[in-house]
Amino acid sequence: MNDTVCFRNIGQLVQVDTANKPPRLKILDKHALIVKNGRVEKVLKDSGLKSSNYSRVIDLKGKTVIPGLVDCHTHLIYAGERKDEMERRLDATSYMDILKSGDGILSTVKATREADGKSLLKTAKTRMKRMMALGTTAFEIKSGYGLDIETEKKILSVGNRLKKVLPVPVTLTYLGAHAIPEGSTKSQYFDFVMKNLPLFRNLADGVDIFCEEGVFSVKDLKRLFLQAKLVGFTQLRAHVEELSHQGGCAEAAKLGAVSCDHLEYANPKDIRAMKHGDTVAVLMPGVTFFLGGEKIPLVHSMLDAGITLALATDCNPGSSPTYNMQTVLNLACHLYRITPEQALVAATYGSAKALESHEKYGSLQPGQRADFLTLKTNDYRDLFYYFGENFVEQTFIQGQAVRIPKAPAIE
Ligand code: NIG
Ligand code: FE
Repeated sequence: MNDTVCFRNIGQLVQVDTANKPPRLKILDKHALIVKNGRVEKVLKDSGLKSSNYSRVIDLKGKTVIPGLVDCHTHLIYAGERKDEMERRLDATSYMDILKSGDGILSTVKATREADGKSLLKTAKTRMKRMMALGTTAFEIKSGYGLDIETEKKILSVGNRLKKVLPVPVTLTYLGAHAIPEGSTKSQYFDFVMKNLPLFRNLADGVDIFCEEGVFSVKDLKRLFLQAKLVGFTQLRAHVEELSHQGGCAEAAKLGAVSCDHLEYANPKDIRAMKHGDTVAVLMPGVTFFLGGEKIPLVHSMLDAGITLALATDCNPGSSPTYNMQTVLNLACHLYRITPEQALVAATYGSAKALESHEKYGSLQPGQRADFLTLKTNDYRDLFYYFGENFVEQTFIQGQAVRIPKAPAIE
């Protein structure tokens, strides 16, 4: 990859201007992107370029270029699917009642325990390739469908393998505290998670917990985070205030969480705690949408407080079966009433910050990874206007075009 490539004739080149507080989009017309050894070297005016300065010149024919989308919250390593559960929910059974009856997350746990590492790797890899084709260029992946040592390790080992076989950055999170497995009480299982935390230290970058009524409490969150810090995990994340208000968000932010995720029920006190802790608010409008859209997070209070917003798919078979960050962008604008600019900054810079990687990627600034998308349009706002379209023409990872799979990623 020891070369300098000039991507020229870009109609609309979209970067994130991180010098601005809060970061904003910077949109340049008729520019060229110079990529050296997989990184953005510089941006130049298109007129007056000297082709002989570059090993290759690629004419983008007036297309739009945006930074690659960062999916900072997924559960994409799993087996099985849950269409029956979707029908039960649409027939008025709640997500939590389904979990309490032993299905929901626990049915995916059963299927994932039964699957071998090879098949989990195959399906997760297919999903990720599909996601890359749809515009995702960096991922976070959680465990949490094992709830025993063997299967949690199997999932995280698949995650570590994916890091090696795909050219994208992958952050891994241990989510042992995702649900209570059959046959254990909450306190038995939580003690087990706490005791075995060191076993996962070399397999994941961080930890996460599902803090919700009937699952894990704010007290559990506090115990987990304190222990995780002692064990040496650097990134603390939490599923908080998703289906009810528990107080996990404020506690997580106080304990130094890098992100608080979901937040449909977060209140002004939680927002102040996130501001104070410089915690990123990860919003997943796909979940709001798929679980019935009853509660919209206080997104404008978060923006007014100056909190960094991030967007993610939450890709999982129960609350958000989507591979598509473009759908997430669109839903964020129209369900949460934010502007295309706010949504795109959140899905690039914001999501990269949730992964503590905003220096490395997300803004398409010089020195960063040259992970970008060409769009089938000359105006990036079409992503937010024409819903249900795939506007990504080509995904580039470190300046290299990725091949687009033809079949959809359905098992
Ligand atoms: O982020 N809330 C807990 N965990 C996931 C859903 C997992 C599932 O339903 O399988 C979430 O929504
Ligand atoms: Fe999740």
